[in-house]
Amino acid sequence: MAGDSKIVEANRDTYNDGRLKVFDLASMKRHNKFMAEYMLCFSSKNQGDAIVDRNLKINATEDVDPDTPIEDVSTNWDKSSSKLLDFACGAGNMTKYLSPFAKNVVGVDISPAMAKAYKERTGHEGYACNIVEESNPAIGNDFDFIVCTMSYHHIEDLGLVTKKLSEKLKSGGWLYVMDMDSTNPNSTMGQLMKTAAAQKHDNHSHSHSHSHSHDHAHSHDHGHGHSHGGGGDSLEEAAEKIGVAHAHGISPEGMVKMFENAGLTNVAVDRGIQVQVWTPVEEMRALTNAAEDETFDLFEKDDKGRCDLTFAMLLAAGMKP
Ligand SMILES: C[S@@+](CC[C@H](N)C(=O)[O-])C[C@H]1O[C@@H](n2cnc3c(N)ncnc32)[C@H](O)[C@@H]1O
Repeated sequence: MAGDSKIVEANRDTYNDGRLKVFDLASMKRHNKFMAEYMLCFSSKNQGDAIVDRNLKINATEDVDPDTPIEDVSTNWDKSSSKLLDFACGAGNMTKYLSPFAKNVVGVDISPAMAKAYKERTGHEGYACNIVEESNPAIGNDFDFIVCTMSYHHIEDLGLVTKKLSEKLKSGGWLYVMDMDSTNPNSTMGQLMKTAAAQKHDNHSHSHSHSHSHDHAHSHDHGHGHSHGGGGDSLEEAAEKIGVAHAHGISPEGMVKMFENAGLTNVAVDRGIQVQVWTPVEEMRALTNAAEDETFDLFEKDDKGRCDLTFAMLLAAGMKP
C-alpha cells in the first residue's frame, strides 16, 4: 500500500501464499507449542526482578509433540470468558494451541495472505491491517490477553506497536511477547535468515535478468566463495530483504523500557530460554527455499543429519493497569 515502509512491503512480499508451507512443518509447530505452553504458565512464575535468567534449554524435538493439544497446565486463562488477540498471527499456529484456553480469539497480520489463511485454518476472524495506521473498530480494546510470537523482530517501530497493543488491552489484561533475545549468543537464526535472504536474492535475479542465461545468473550467485548472504550483504542488509527489522532480536532491557513506556505495569522479562529443534534437511529447504543441501553446511548436524536450529528466546510480559 502507498506510504508503507520498505520493511512492511518486504513482509507482505515474504509472507505470501508460498510461505504457508512453513507453518505446517513439525519443527515450527514444536517451537509454537513450546511458546504457547510457556505463555499459558507464565503468570504463576514471575515475581520480583524485572529480568530473570531462566537458564533453560529445551530439546523440542524430543520433548514437544506438535500433534497433540496442550493439556494439564495450570493457567489463569479462562475458557469461559478470556478474549485473546493473536497479533502478527501468521497462519494461526499459536491460536491453534491457545484457543482451547480462551472464549473469543481474533488474529491480526500485516499480510492479507496470512490473515486469510488464519481464518481458514483456525475458524477465527483474521484481519489484515497495519495496526499503527488503521483503527479497525472490529478489533476491540478489551482483550484479556494479547500474544505476539516471533514477530517483533519483523517490526520497525516497536515502541509504537507496543503502545497500540497496550491500548487494546482491558484493565488487568496482559501482553506477552516472545522473540529472539539479542543478548544470547546461542541462536542459529542468523544463519537461517542469511540463507533465506540469499535464496530470495537468487530467485529475484533469475526472474529479473531475462537477458542472462540461467547459468550466468546461477554462477553469479553461487560462484566462488559460496556467498550465502543475499549477494554478500551483511546480516542486517540480508535480513531487511526478507522483512526482518531486528536481525539480532531484541534486548531484555529494551523490552522492559518499551513495555513501561507503553504504560504497562508488572513488567517482567524471562531470558535464557533456549529452544533447540533438530530440523530435517527437507524442512530446512522449505524454511529457506534453498535447493542445495550444501547450503546447510553452516549448521551443526546430529547423527540423523538434522540441522541444529536453536531459538534463543525471551518472553516479555506486562499488565494494563
Ligand atoms: C515469523 S511469522 C510468526 C507468525 C506467528 N506469530 C507464529 O509464531 O507462528 C511473522 C509474522 O509477522 C507478520 N508481520 C510482520 N510485520 C508485521 C506488522 N507490522 N504488523 C503485523 N504483522 C506483521 C508477518 O506477516 C508474519 O505473518
